[in-house]
This record gives sequence, C-alpha cells and structure tokens, in this order.
Amino acid sequence: MIRISFAPMEGVTTPLFRRVFREMFGGVDTYYTPFLSANQNHSFKKKEIREYTHYDPSLVPQVMAADPLDLVWAAKTLKEAGYKEINLNLGCPMATVVSRKRGAGLLKDTDALKRFFDSVFSQEGLPEISIKTRTGFFSSEAAAELGKLYAAFPFCEVIIHPRAREEFYNGTADTEAFKAMRAELDCPVCYNGDIRTAEDLERLKNELPDVEHFMIGRGFLADPLLALKIRGDKITDERQVVYKYLNRLWNEYQKELSGERDVLFKMKELWYYLEWHYPEDKELIGSIRKSRSAAEYKGLVAKLLSGGRSI
Ligand SMILES: Cc1cc2nc3c(=O)[nH]c(=O)nc-3n(C[C@H](O)[C@H](O)[C@H](O)COP(=O)(O)O)c2cc1C
Repeated sequence: MIRISFAPMEGVTTPLFRRVFREMFGGVDTYYTPFLSANQNHSFKKKEIREYTHYDPSLVPQVMAADPLDLVWAAKTLKEAGYKEINLNLGCPMATVVSRKRGAGLLKDTDALKRFFDSVFSQEGLPEISIKTRTGFFSSEAAAELGKLYAAFPFCEVIIHPRAREEFYNGTADTEAFKAMRAELDCPVCYNGDIRTAEDLERLKNELPDVEHFMIGRGFLADPLLALKIRGDKITDERQVVYKYLNRLWNEYQKELSGERDVLFKMKELWYYLEWHYPEDKELIGSIRKSRSAAEYKGLVAKLLSGGRSI
C-alpha cells in the first residue's frame, strides 16, 4: 500500500484549508504544515502556533531554520506538543529565504550542511527528523553527493523534490535525479513533484517500484478530487462537488479574514492552480481571476461549475 501526503504550501495549506479539504474529500494520509520559522528568538509567531497546537496524529510540522540550535529548539517544542516527527525544509527557493541560508539555501555548501547536521544530532531528546529536499542548489548533478551526506545521519525519511533550487518550479521534475539521490539512501524515501493525475502516479509507481510514499501539492489544488480518483472512487457531478468545496472555503475564510477583499484575494489565488484542470475554460477562468467583487466572482464561478445556478 502506498501512502499519499499533501505537500506543505505556505499561504495555502493552512489549518482552515486542511480542515475543509479533509472534511470534503479525505484520501490523504498525512498533511505537512507550511514551514514554521525557527529563529534566534526561540518563539513561534501566533499564526505558526495555530498550525500545530491542536495535536493531530496525521500532521507533520515542518520547520525552516538557519542555525542548528534553532532547529533543535523547534524540534523539542514540537515534541512537547505531541509530535513524534518533524520535517526540515531544505527546498524553499525564494531569494529572501536562500540569502539567509535557509530552505534550499542550506544546499549550497555541503560542508556547512554536514556541520549543521552534526550539531543537530549531537543533541539528545529530539523527535524523529525527516527532511524535504531538492536535488541540488545550482543543478541536480549534486543529487548523489547530497544523498551520501544525508545517508550519514539518522533521518526517518527523505522527501525528494527532484529539481534544483535554480529551477524554482520550472521545467519538469527529474526522476533520474530522484533515483541518483535515492540510490545513496537506506532510509524510507518519498517522491514529490508534478503529480497532477492518477495516471501520473501510476507511471511513477511503475518507474519507482520501491517507493511507497508520494507527496502531492499543486495537483491537489488543481484537482481537489485527485486523492479520491487515486483511491479509485467513482465520481459523479465533479464540477458540482468542486463548486461546493469552493463555497465552503469562501464561507470559512469569511469567518477568519477581515474583509471581502481578503477572501476574494485568497480564492483567486486558488484559481491559478484550478485553471490547470479546466484548460478548455481558460477565458472564463481569466475573468474569475480578474474579478473585483464577491458578487462578480461568485456569478462567474457558478457559471463555470454549476451551470449558472448558485447555492
Ligand atoms: C505556493 C507554494 C507554497 C509552498 N510552500 C512550501 C512550504 O512551506 N514548505 C515546503 O517544503 N515546500 C513548499 N512548497 C513546495 C511544495 O511543497 C512542493 O514541493 C512543490 O509544489 C512540488 O510539488 P507539486 O508538483 O506536487 O506541487 C510550496 C509550493 C508552492 C507552489
């Protein structure tokens, strides 16, 4: 049996989003929080604390840190909150993150990365630590070297997104780079990158027969029914279901955010990914993404997903 996880996505996969997604669809075994920033203050922001306070056994908190002792502090804090595993972010490509030697910035200097891990694992009382990594900083030619480095430490799992930092999210995920890193590792591994359909997953399962854990991010945003399709469920009234899900999200965001403009902004962000799933409706979706009021937005979404009938 394979395991399916929902990838961490900063600004998207918040507790509210995860709750709505889980209640509407299910089919996902594990969720990861968007990265929580561990810094020298050794305190998380209120928004970050909300990510993990209600202990959830199917949730893995993800941490971003530049200093090993900050990571150790975060790991112990999360262990006290009940979590057996935490995940370290070694993949975020954003310039502001990388320039502070966090996220994928840690991949640039492998000697420094080794010292980072030496320092972390010299500490006692840690929860299990997994990592989510890209396959290199400048290029995925670094995949095997990084794999060797990871193999020297007791990670409970290595989640591999086979792109280099310099690629951001461009091009396609490189399964050869995945294999090169994977070949160096004895611990469990997870594949992440570009799974958009149940067929994509089938193809990867055939190509990577010893991988039992797959992580999906943008694919779930584009097609929220994807986990159910992977499970083999028969789905009827697909558009109507997506319509209900988007309405539910709208209502929940309305309770949490300060005004209609913010809710509209949040919902329009999702349409960037939903557009992948409805290529034939590009024009209408373009109008949805440009809509300026709740009424305009809701009318257009009802037209696309519900034959003009609103609920
Ligand atoms: C908007 C956005 C936010 C993301 N935030 C995070 C994050 O907080 N932590 C992380 O490890 N990866 C983050 N990622 C990367 C995803 O977890 C995932 O690795 C990437 O999207 C590739 O997988 P996919 O093709 O299934 O989407 C983010 C990606 C996007 C597009």
